[in-house]
Amino acid sequence: MSKFISIENKVILITGAAGLIGKELCLAFLADGAQVVACDLNPAPLSDLGTGDRAQNVITLALDITVAEQREEAVRQAVEKFGRIDVLINSAAIDAKFDKGGTGKINNSRFENYPEAPLRQSVEVNMTATIQMTQVVCRQMVEQGHGNIINLASTYSLVAPNQGLYDFGGQISYKPIDYVATKSFIPNFTRYLATFYAKEGIRCNAVVPHGIENNHSDEFKERFAQYSPMARMCDRKELIGIFVYLASDASSYMTGSVIPVDGGWTAW
Ligand SMILES: NC(=O)c1ccc[n+]([C@@H]2O[C@H](COP(=O)([O-])OP(=O)(O)OC[C@H]3O[C@@H](n4cnc5c(N)ncnc54)[C@H](O)[C@@H]3O)[C@@H](O)[C@H]2O)c1
Repeated sequence: MSKFISIENKVILITGAAGLIGKELCLAFLADGAQVVACDLNPAPLSDLGTGDRAQNVITLALDITVAEQREEAVRQAVEKFGRIDVLINSAAIDAKFDKGGTGKINNSRFENYPEAPLRQSVEVNMTATIQMTQVVCRQMVEQGHGNIINLASTYSLVAPNQGLYDFGGQISYKPIDYVATKSFIPNFTRYLATFYAKEGIRCNAVVPHGIENNHSDEFKERFAQYSPMARMCDRKELIGIFVYLASDASSYMTGSVIPVDGGWTAW
């Protein structure tokens, strides 16, 4: 381990911990000696986190970030167990994944037809509840006099989706507006928190991942490669380094940064 970058004994609370990115981060943080509060709407996939040597360094919690009592309870349990929260990672989000094979969402996903219910749900989770979860943790961070927030943005926080990516041989699906709209809020939310708390010892930065490989079809991967400067999707392990760095004191002069880890997707 680098002597410059350490997260040993950092208390890291992560929402959406059971997700594709969240679980990978939990495992890496625990392996690097951090203390992890792993929270998810559905914590079942996290059941193996708290076993063996790691048991005393982790708690897994059922947390729906849209429910006020559950937000309060997660922070209460984190502080009861570990005494403080050094880092909050806001990873929980609704990402209306494209319809892999079917035609069902084709019309719904088009901008002019996109329905109100999923739009409202994405606003509720990806914006309102993300702000509210951060508020509860910030109360704790202000009280303890330090803190560090890392938000999950997306390339769709910065650029529009290339809808050609979702063209399945004439069966076009679309990346819908709810995800793009609600992820576009993350960079400025990050800058808002960074500047609001800069003098109070609380930092806030965002990571911009893109295209984490997850059993995608060969056809999709080939199309992705055509649009990607690096001509490939991201292995989830390639995200770990930036999170460890941002969670560590090695990044102590960084706040308000929005950092793409996207194989160059937003570079052209
Ligand atoms: N996977 C990618 O390629 C990619 C790319 C860019 C950005 N991101 C962002 O990274 C983050 C994580 O993505 P992922 O791929 O791990 O997503 P995922 O869908 O695999 O995981 C998201 C997790 O959030 C949880 N969740 C949903 N609603 C919740 C709620 N109300 N309360 C608590 N938990 C809730 C889900 O149960 C799930 O485990 C998201 O913010 C996403 O927008 C992902």
